[in-house]
Amino acid sequence: MILRAGNCLILEHGNHVVMNIFDVYPLFPIKPARAEGALLWDEEGVEYLDLYGGHAVISIGHSHPHWVSAIQEQVAKLAFYSNSIVNPIQQAYAEKLGEMSCLIDHSLFLCNSGAEANENALKLASFHTGKDEFIAFKGGFHGRTAAAVAVTDNPNLRAPSNETDKVHILEKDLAEVEQKLANGRVAAIIIEAVTGVGGIQIASKAFLEGLSHLSKKYGSLLIMDEVQSGFGRTGAFFGYQSIASISPDLITMAKGMGNGFPIGGLLIHPDIEAKHGLLGTTFGGNHTACAAGLAVLEVLESENLISKAAKMGKWLEERFSRLSFIHEYRGKGLMVGIEMKFAVGGMRRQMLMEDKIFTGSSACLNTLRLLPPLCITEAQLERFEDAFLVKSEQLIDSQQ
Ligand SMILES: Cc1ncc(COP(=O)(O)O)c(C=O)c1O
Repeated sequence: MILRAGNCLILEHGNHVVMNIFDVYPLFPIKPARAEGALLWDEEGVEYLDLYGGHAVISIGHSHPHWVSAIQEQVAKLAFYSNSIVNPIQQAYAEKLGEMSCLIDHSLFLCNSGAEANENALKLASFHTGKDEFIAFKGGFHGRTAAAVAVTDNPNLRAPSNETDKVHILEKDLAEVEQKLANGRVAAIIIEAVTGVGGIQIASKAFLEGLSHLSKKYGSLLIMDEVQSGFGRTGAFFGYQSIASISPDLITMAKGMGNGFPIGGLLIHPDIEAKHGLLGTTFGGNHTACAAGLAVLEVLESENLISKAAKMGKWLEERFSRLSFIHEYRGKGLMVGIEMKFAVGGMRRQMLMEDKIFTGSSACLNTLRLLPPLCITEAQLERFEDAFLVKSEQLIDSQQ
């Protein structure tokens, strides 16, 4: 039995407390027990449509059979060995990732999560440039570990020890960026091409190209945080590739990379020295993680999921962008923000409870965030459309 007490969840077994679980996120009152594709089922067998994708994690679909058997076979053969041996699956993974992302000449550092990928990218940028300041942007989210949270635009997530005057969190304004770069101390600029937590704000082509130009001009590196927008979600392999023709110095990734198996990574441009021993990790790039990651790439390719994401994104945009109660529709492929003229919290909850549809929210209270598995079908999106229209009208009526 689970009870909530203050900040903790208490698991009770009989009458005695056995363990506290640290309270991380607000909880929805449902317990998914099984999943397939874009569907989840709870312990009673009630079906839910997942337009949240476990927070942009589920790319090829829940429990995809190819992914399941790749993990099972790898675990049975050799689940883990550290980076102190040559790992052929890691090499196969790097080769496939290079081919699919068109970044064949880059180096790959594998880790376990998005925050860790950013932490290592920021550190490598500082090693490479010998500089110690960073530029990040309003609305950006890069993780909760020390350096990642320091470049995240949310002071509530920072402990006193994470506060620093070496990070400049700016508006997306090239003149302001250049002014900061001109001090000569900026190691890197970090940006999400399409913000996730920030509510699907899409950087413009001119802005990304401007950052690329300015970072080179002032000897700083450009880090693209593709943790949420990567792996086909936007209809291109990486989100920035759907917007601008640039070559970022460092690209960070996680979420959709493993379809639920923990794996993160950092792609390093060939001009950046990746000296032996600068970065390291025990678990990163282990055999099972790479088998899971390779299976994700194989399915993205064999099922054309990246072009399907682009197609479904267009379908959603056509249906939703002109509705009168929508303030703004922002989307790239299946990374979608629907900004309403009212706060979406109640609507989201109602859809979950009554229509059995999971959606996401964002730091922008009026924006509903959709991050479905890339295998979502038109019929499943129509199911969402029907529920969304009814719930929007009900909310508008209740506010008049
Ligand atoms: C853009 C972006 N970067 C980094 C992170 C942190 O990733 P993780 O939670 O795997 O540490 C997230 C998580 O939501 C994210 O959306």
